[in-house]
Amino acid sequence: MQRLLLLCLLAAPPTSTAVLGQDLNQTIDVRKLAAAVQSPGFQSRVVGGEVTTNARLGGYLIALRYEEAFICGGSLLHELIVLTAAHCFLGRVKISSWLAVGSASKLNDRGIQREVKEVIKSAQFREDDMNMDVAILLLKKPMRHRTLGKLVLCKKHLVPGTELRVSGWGLTNPNEFGPQKLLRTVTVPIVDKKICRASYLPTVQLTDSMFCAGVLGKKDACTFDSGGPLVYKNQVCGIVSFGIGCASKRYYGVYTDIMYVKPFIEQSIKVLLAKR
Ligand code: ARG
Repeated sequence: MQRLLLLCLLAAPPTSTAVLGQDLNQTIDVRKLAAAVQSPGFQSRVVGGEVTTNARLGGYLIALRYEEAFICGGSLLHELIVLTAAHCFLGRVKISSWLAVGSASKLNDRGIQREVKEVIKSAQFREDDMNMDVAILLLKKPMRHRTLGKLVLCKKHLVPGTELRVSGWGLTNPNEFGPQKLLRTVTVPIVDKKICRASYLPTVQLTDSMFCAGVLGKKDACTFDSGGPLVYKNQVCGIVSFGIGCASKRYYGVYTDIMYVKPFIEQSIKVLLAKR
């Protein structure tokens, strides 16, 4: 389903030549594309959070850049390992063009930069429905600094209503065309899976690797927040994956369920660390 990819349109290159966000020439294309996939009603909301700093969050949030342009968030799990979403790599296959930036709060902060040595995307990742939207990166050199922090993998299934924190440089207003300059954060409650599944039908069929969070019409992640963590007590329990619109009145934000994809993550980390 091409449509789902378009829901993440700013995170995936509209054309193979696109450099996202920074290039003003690109904004018209993106706007057209956005208008094509999001009805105005879905576009009229913001994320509903507040400005923060990476240090205040715990120093775990990574900015992932491709050919300089900011693309996705990620989380530091180990000094050599970053967790993010698989869809961030669609159309961006040149590993040497990726850069992981730690300790950045303003998007143009230099931070602590590391090149990427290898990426493992889940073999079950599907672009058409975003099934298993998870990827693990091995950095060329360790990210070590007193300002950095790490997340551990989610320890248990969380019940609906539990509040988790999502952060990133994503849009706060869908009429903007590039990522935010300042890091923002918002807490969102987990939503009952059946309720969320039903709300997305018949447009999208959610799979077992997904769960939802957010407050309809009020609190949500948005484009450019992808790949970033949904955090509960220093545990990463979700990865920002997709949504129809942002803080829409009808659709919640969809996250990759860490409890479900944990075997893939643990196995990939093992494989990657054995290669260093
Ligand atoms: N796919 C988007 C991205 O790549 C993330 C969208 C999240 N949307 C949402 N409404 N929660 O940045």
